[in-house]
Amino acid sequence: MTVRPILTAPDPRLKAVSTDVEKVDAEIRKLAEDMADSMYAADGIGLAAVQIGVPKRIIVMDLNQEEGDQKSGKKDWRAFINPKITWTSDEMATYEEGCLSVPEIYDDVDRPARIKAEYLDLNGKRIEIEADGMLATCLQHEMDHLEGVLFIDHLSRLKRAMLLKKLTKAKKMAG
Ligand code: NI
Repeated sequence: MTVRPILTAPDPRLKAVSTDVEKVDAEIRKLAEDMADSMYAADGIGLAAVQIGVPKRIIVMDLNQEEGDQKSGKKDWRAFINPKITWTSDEMATYEEGCLSVPEIYDDVDRPARIKAEYLDLNGKRIEIEADGMLATCLQHEMDHLEGVLFIDHLSRLKRAMLLKKLTKAKKMAG
């Protein structure tokens, strides 16, 4: 188990476009485990590999953490490797989002309410899912990371500039 430091904005490494995983092997499974450890240590519900500085198309997620399992210690994470969205609904949904790479900032983001996606699991098996609610939102948020996009990039230019200023200031104060 290795908890790795999570990059925070503004950090140019978060803008990297991640590359496909060519083979789901022991090295990739170890990376996914480190990502899950890092996510739990930071009290998060999702993490993309690029957030720990590894620009590969891997996401880990545990939405149960939302519902108090964090206290019970129950861990039930899944990995999504080389995920692709194959369909999105016209209907939109708005959730207040946050991000481990954008500490202490939360804001409403509109995204398609339902999506279909495909990905590889940790055994390299292709899985297709249809998602709505939190899962749909989280998958889209995490998949944005793979393109170097943060949730604040969905906000107005003015709002984003203001938030980035705040983040830069917070970083300076932290030394
Ligand atoms: Ni995020």
